[in-house]
Amino acid sequence: MPNKYLYINTIGCQMNVYDSAQIAMGLAALGYQQTAILELADLVIVNTCTIRAKAEQKAFSFLGRLARLKAKKPDLISAVGGCVAQQEGRKIFKRIPHLDLVFGTQAIDRLPDLIQKIETQRCRIVDIEPAETPRAANAGARVPAADQVSQFVTIMRGCDNFCSYCVVPYVRGRETSRHPDAIIEEIQEFAQAGVKEVTLLGQNVNSYGKKEGLCSFSQLLSRVARIEPLLRIRFTTSHPKDLDDELINAFRTNPKLCDHIHLPVQSGSDRVLQRMNRRYTKALYLDKVAKLRDTCPDIAITSDFIVGFPGESQADFDETLDLIRTVEFDGLFAFKYSDRPNAPAAQFEDKVPQQQSKQRLQVLLDLQETITRKKNKTLVGTCWTILTEGFSKKQTAGSLNQATPAVQWTGRTTTNKIVNFYDDHDSAALNNMAPGQLVDVNIEKAYSHSLWGKPIESRIAAARLKGEGSYAA
Ligand code: 5AD
Ligand code: SF4
Repeated sequence: MPNKYLYINTIGCQMNVYDSAQIAMGLAALGYQQTAILELADLVIVNTCTIRAKAEQKAFSFLGRLARLKAKKPDLISAVGGCVAQQEGRKIFKRIPHLDLVFGTQAIDRLPDLIQKIETQRCRIVDIEPAETPRAANAGARVPAADQVSQFVTIMRGCDNFCSYCVVPYVRGRETSRHPDAIIEEIQEFAQAGVKEVTLLGQNVNSYGKKEGLCSFSQLLSRVARIEPLLRIRFTTSHPKDLDDELINAFRTNPKLCDHIHLPVQSGSDRVLQRMNRRYTKALYLDKVAKLRDTCPDIAITSDFIVGFPGESQADFDETLDLIRTVEFDGLFAFKYSDRPNAPAAQFEDKVPQQQSKQRLQVLLDLQETITRKKNKTLVGTCWTILTEGFSKKQTAGSLNQATPAVQWTGRTTTNKIVNFYDDHDSAALNNMAPGQLVDVNIEKAYSHSLWGKPIESRIAAARLKGEGSYAA
């Protein structure tokens, strides 16, 4: 089969990253090899996101720019999938006349057939089913040849929560969980291919399997933990209203579950939370945080915030800042509210002016920056086990004011903090190291988005001797 090149532009959340990997696998069977060079592509796929207006604009501006490539290469096939495709459907053809295919969130498994049809018949296709249509049973259980330390695994799709600002239930449909046996099988194959860490994905993992009468999420985590030689398990996302004691206890009892939880709160104001239809209060959120920290004192807690939700007053925003000061998150993502199609909040009055949202966003981010720096500083002088991912992007860390190290590695702590490290005494040891090893590193410097340290010599040797990278600390 002749080799053809596929370029995928993935926008949005980790679920899209997972879906893109599936897309690439499916198309490999048609002879498509993935490339990072757009100009080489015979097929370009944009996997889109519509969670916020900005993500949608990003997709359209990329699609617009593709017109030039298409003019140079008339045989190029261009396709758009994901949430914008699901939301806009056929209308996208009007806006982007050079497009060949629009496929919805349920059509990924049919993609190879669709592309083959376009290749042979040069037709234009729209394949959108209502978001409620379940994908083929346990679709997504195909396994890639893993060359990565860490992999995402989608365990459920869709959402039943209907937060008033959110488009997800309309473009991803109702919540459905994959069968645990299919998930376990997929992770087993990943682990056999060398994957050391998996992140289980769902919009609200706390309700995993409830509708279908499958096992609980914590039980699923226990099953995943028994897979060898997997070293670490992460998950995202957890809805505060459904975070129960069973899952909180898993941070103590599950040996592979990492000490990190992403627990989006969105706002610190009860009035705003109610209008967002989040179904918890600030007090309840703080209670869950306290329980998490009681159970797992080192746990890192990160969150999402929306500023400028319709009707958000200065007093509401002050409540948000107060929550951030009280919790002292390890990190957060914050977004200016944007209207989304179908989401009820788009109809709410009292829209906050853009300029004000922008100012609030900056105040919030500045506050968090101070907290992150302070928290990271307390880590200097402590020792953490790092799962190595590969070489650091910034090998020449200029801020170190030292000779550039031969090799600088990067990895993460169990608390999901990025640590870059090198060893000036024995860089040969680091040269021999492979991604996916556990190394103990002394933290020597703290920055706002990463830490820097030096490995403990004897522990690198131990990791190397064991080959697997896992060893008793
Ligand atoms: N406007 C701004 N931010 C939003 N998010 C979801 N919908 C919107 C919206 N309409 C944010 C929330 C969510 C994250 C994934 O995106 O903070 O947790
Ligand atoms: Fe959207 Fe709320 Fe569901 Fe998250 S829980 S995907 S914010 S509706």
